[in-house]
Amino acid sequence: MATRDLELQRFARKAAGYRAALTSFPHARAIELSAVIAIINALCENRGWDRTSVQIIDLMAGTGILSSKLRESGYLNLTAIELCDEMHVDATQASPVEWIKAESLVAGLEECRKRRPQVVVSLAAFHHLISYVGDRVDRLASAVKQHSLIGQVCDCMASDGVLLIVDLAEESFLTAAKHDLQMRFDKGVGVPAVHANVTKVIAQCPGTIMLESAIANWRGKVAVNPSLRWFREIVDAETVIGHKDMALTKELVSMCDVFFRTRCSTIRCPWLFSSEADLESFVIQKFGFLVERAPQEIDRNQLGKSIKQHLGSKEHDGGGWSLDWRLGVLTVEKSSVSSKTTVDEDILLLGIIVCLCGLLIGRLGVIALAPGAFATIEPVLSRFTWVFAGMLLAKLLQLFVQRRWKLWR
Ligand SMILES: C[S@@+](CC[C@H](N)C(=O)[O-])C[C@H]1O[C@@H](n2cnc3c(N)ncnc32)[C@H](O)[C@@H]1O
Repeated sequence: MATRDLELQRFARKAAGYRAALTSFPHARAIELSAVIAIINALCENRGWDRTSVQIIDLMAGTGILSSKLRESGYLNLTAIELCDEMHVDATQASPVEWIKAESLVAGLEECRKRRPQVVVSLAAFHHLISYVGDRVDRLASAVKQHSLIGQVCDCMASDGVLLIVDLAEESFLTAAKHDLQMRFDKGVGVPAVHANVTKVIAQCPGTIMLESAIANWRGKVAVNPSLRWFREIVDAETVIGHKDMALTKELVSMCDVFFRTRCSTIRCPWLFSSEADLESFVIQKFGFLVERAPQEIDRNQLGKSIKQHLGSKEHDGGGWSLDWRLGVLTVEKSSVSSKTTVDEDILLLGIIVCLCGLLIGRLGVIALAPGAFATIEPVLSRFTWVFAGMLLAKLLQLFVQRRWKLWR
C-alpha cells in the first residue's frame, strides 16, 4: 500500500480538533465562506449557469463545510473530494454532497471527469501540496506540484470551466493581485447578525467587481499578511505536528499564465467569535495545539498574546471578537472563453450589421424593382442607414477602447 503523503498524515492527527472547532463555532468562518460563495455566484451569473445544474467540485474539501454552505445557497450538483478519511464526515451518513473516496487527487479527478465540472473550488488546501527535501519545503518542486495539479484539474473541467483557488498567499501574490475584496463589518452588530449582514451584502452584489466596491468599509488596520506569519512563527514552532506551507506565489501565477488564463485577487475575511475565550478555543482546536497535549499544558496567556500579535484579534464595540484573515484568490481558466456579456455584445453587433445589410439590399431592391417609389422611400431608408451606421461605429469604437484599456492595465 502506498505511503500516505506527509501532509495527509498531519491532517489525520489533527482532524478531530479541526472538526470540533468548526462544529463548536459554526459562524467563525462565515465571512470567508460567504466570500467564496459570492465569487461562485458572480461567476455563474456571468456565464449564465444555473445553480441547480452547474457541476461543482470541492477539491480537498476537509469536513465539507464549503460544500454544505454551497448546498444551502441552492447549488445542487456538488461533489467533494477529500483523501483524509479522518477529516470528512462519515460518508455512510446521509449527506447533501456526493463524496468521492480516492487514493490520490488525480484518481479522484479522474472520477470527476465524467461530470465535466464547470467550477472546481479549493479552499485553504493548495498550500498543503508540498514537496520536501528532508524536512524542508522544496519550494520549486512544490510550485511544480501545484502547477501540475492545476493542469490536471483544467483537463477534467468543462471547456468553459473555472478553477477557483482560495488560499494563504505570499506577499508577492498579494501585492500583485489587482483587486482586494473586503468584507463589510458594521459597527455594533453581534456575531449572528454579522453573518446575516454579510449574506445580505453579498446577495446584493451581482458581480465580483461590484463586490469590491460594495464591500469597502473594513474597520481598523490589518497587519501585512498576518495569516502566513501565524503559521510559520507560531503553529509550526509550538504544535507537536507543526505546519509547513507552500502558499500561493506570483511565480505560480506566472507558470499558469503560460498555459491558462488567470486572475488574482485577495479577500480580507476576518473570523468571528462571540468572546475572546471562544476565539482562543477555536484556534487551539483547529490548529492542533491539543494534539498529544492536555488543555492545561497550554499557556493560554502566552497564546492569547501571540494571537493578538500575529492575527490581530480584537474586540468590537457592539460585542464580538474577530481575528484578521487574508487569503489570495486565483482563478484559472483553460483559455479565454466568452462570458454571457460578451456573447450578448456579439449578438448586438451582429444584429446591427444584419440590419445595415438589409437596408442596403432594400435600397438596391427598390431601385431595381420600383424606381418610381424610390424618391419617397429613399429618405426613410437613408435615415435608418445613417442610424445603424452610427450604431456600428459607436460599437466598434467601444470595443477598440475596451481592448486598449485591457492591454494598458
Ligand atoms: C486546511 S484543510 C481545508 C479543508 C476545507 N477545504 C476547509 O476549508 O475547511 C486542508 C485539506 O487539504 C487536504 N490535504 C492536505 N494535504 C493534501 C495532499 N497532499 N493531498 C491531498 N489532500 C491534502 C487535507 O486532508 C485537508 O482536508
